[in-house]
Amino acid sequence: MHYSSFGLVNTKKLLTKALRDGYAVPGFNFYNMETLLAILRAAQITQSPVILQVSESALEYMGDDILIGMIAGAKYKVGQVSLHLDHGHSFEVCKRAIDMGFSSVMFDGSNLPLKQNIKISRQVADYAHKFDVSVETELGVLNGTEDKNTKSDKMLYTDPAIVKDFVKQTQTDSLAVAIGTSHGLYKRKNTNEKLRFDILKQIAMNIPKTPLVLHGASSIPQKFVNTINKFGGNLKNAHGIAPNQLRQAILLHIAKINVDSDSRLAFTSAIRETLAHDKSIFDPRALLTNAMDNITKNCVDEIQNIMGSGYKI
Ligand code: G3H
Ligand code: 13P
Ligand code: ZN
Repeated sequence: MHYSSFGLVNTKKLLTKALRDGYAVPGFNFYNMETLLAILRAAQITQSPVILQVSESALEYMGDDILIGMIAGAKYKVGQVSLHLDHGHSFEVCKRAIDMGFSSVMFDGSNLPLKQNIKISRQVADYAHKFDVSVETELGVLNGTEDKNTKSDKMLYTDPAIVKDFVKQTQTDSLAVAIGTSHGLYKRKNTNEKLRFDILKQIAMNIPKTPLVLHGASSIPQKFVNTINKFGGNLKNAHGIAPNQLRQAILLHIAKINVDSDSRLAFTSAIRETLAHDKSIFDPRALLTNAMDNITKNCVDEIQNIMGSGYKI
């Protein structure tokens, strides 16, 4: 199936416009009907473009057929929504996503030796471009837990000196960079720690036409952490990237900002609070409706206060 038959758009189109006009398109991860609908509702409320992201483990969780069934069933406004494979770790999984109807894929070879990263990134780009699908690749390593297969204790900042050649050799459409963000709930030693804007500035200067991507960019709203902890959870020292740091990154060519952990927190805090307030509740739909609404509210908030992507379609 080709993504255009679902009414989806090539991610490159969304990112080119974002880079030109100085905002970021949110890459929100989803893994079931509730998270999918929550994101689409936020996009509709804000009239923002949005990238629906599926990680490899989310793909396994939903299964190809259920995922595509949901994607085919949803309604999209023209030019608003793309479907993206997040952190694909092999040519095979990227090909599978393209064949299934994704409109962009990320090949994440950031943990591979550079030569191999370039080789597979190019192989993915050559295949993807045949179908007008775009490709995101990565240089540098983020610390933290990315998915069940990838965990790194060290941060390797992206080397600005090699980005131009990397983009040329791989023919990538966008590039994920490591400038101090990390995946998951425990990103920073303290909230005042700054991103490496000096590195980002040099990267942007060397590849001015390439939209840059920021992974591990959840801001970890403390209201969710506090609610979770108040109602039986135990999330200690969870800190994210301050919204003003993210807004500053957008001024330096970050055109896509990836958020997953914030939606997970919004979901879980709503479930914990609902269960604590209503001891007789047992219909999952009541729980899930509150969880969905909380994700939508948070996505709207981030679109309006971080991404600047509202009313851009
Ligand atoms: O960047 C990674 C995403 O947050 C995906 O995580 O593999 O647990 O779905 P996941
Ligand atoms: P967070 O863990 O900061 O939400 O990062 C998500 C991400 O980078 C998805 O690719
Ligand atoms: Zn990521």
